[in-house]
Amino acid sequence: MNLIRMSIRRSIWMVSRGTRDVAELAQMGDAPHVPVLLRPIIAKTAPISGTWLDGTFGAGGYTRALLDAGADTVIAVDQDPLVFDMAKSWADEYGARLVPVASNFADLDKAGQNLDGIVLDLGVSSMQIDQAERGFSFMQDGPLDMRMSQSGPTAADLVNTATEAELADILFQYGEERASRRIAKAIIAARPLNTTAELVAAITEVAPVKKGQSHPATRSFQALRIAVNDELGALIRGLEAAERALAPNGWLAVVTFHSLEDRIVKRFLQSRSAISQGSRYAPEQKSAAPTFELQGRKAIKADDEEVAANPRARSASLRLAKRTTAAARPSDWGKLGLPGLVFR
Ligand SMILES: C[S@@+](CC[C@H](N)C(=O)[O-])C[C@H]1O[C@@H](n2cnc3c(N)ncnc32)[C@H](O)[C@@H]1O
Repeated sequence: MNLIRMSIRRSIWMVSRGTRDVAELAQMGDAPHVPVLLRPIIAKTAPISGTWLDGTFGAGGYTRALLDAGADTVIAVDQDPLVFDMAKSWADEYGARLVPVASNFADLDKAGQNLDGIVLDLGVSSMQIDQAERGFSFMQDGPLDMRMSQSGPTAADLVNTATEAELADILFQYGEERASRRIAKAIIAARPLNTTAELVAAITEVAPVKKGQSHPATRSFQALRIAVNDELGALIRGLEAAERALAPNGWLAVVTFHSLEDRIVKRFLQSRSAISQGSRYAPEQKSAAPTFELQGRKAIKADDEEVAANPRARSASLRLAKRTTAAARPSDWGKLGLPGLVFR
């Protein structure tokens, strides 16, 4: 399926339903999104200094903590242009030390070079989920959008144009949804789908809500969000860009929220911290020196105190690595655990 060929439906939701605007979001408090695993990142990378890049700025929790911990400058990258408006109420406090860049972190090496540290805190923020008009939440009715960058094809474009086999594949591979075929069939039968409520209704028709179990739409919403934003492709490109952008001894900290993401980060860092024997992209390369020094074999998890204060932290995993002096090189995507979808 060619996502580029899909028509882009203009949402009339914001006009017809009204939307929570930026000013209103800024009023939601100093930290509408509670940062996860921030304490271990700051502690393990201390002393913090020089230029850091936060590839997932969000509500700015990581950026502020890095600046307060001693970073001279933080280049704050986010693909959602709205997040920088939300930071206006406090950004002045840091003056020129905070450099906002609206971009995908897949291109982070264009935003900064010779960096002392890079942090990536993957996924969507609480603010994005809370804004019904963004279409990320199955708990609130809104347009079927799900685009973090607010550009490109929407989730509605995807569900209304994909074949049944393509949809089933997305739901199974990106959502690990066991009822993927049944749900894909129900989506096709209910098309066109333009709102989150319509999608939830199609899903619950064949996968009813069961007491004590997670909502049947949880996995499908995750899968469609990953597909719409090409989250796993961006992650691999972001890791490769981080390798090109970090100075020797520079830190890379990545926080993931599900096994698909964590597997990619784990395999990338494992492959970069061992002596490489070349790859199918560079067979002539006999061996390449490690580009990262892995900090611990296991991912760091949130402690009981953090999980009690912020249940979102339960599924988070932090992997940390330090850049060596070896030259950056292309990676073999086939070995990084990226699900193979039929529509690719
Ligand atoms: C979990 S939130 C980050 C929260 C942030 N660490 C904080 O403390 O407020 C993830 C953010 O990353 C952004 N994001 C996700 N994928 C991205 C990508 N590929 N490039 C740039 N930004 C991305 C989202 O738009 C969202 O604002």
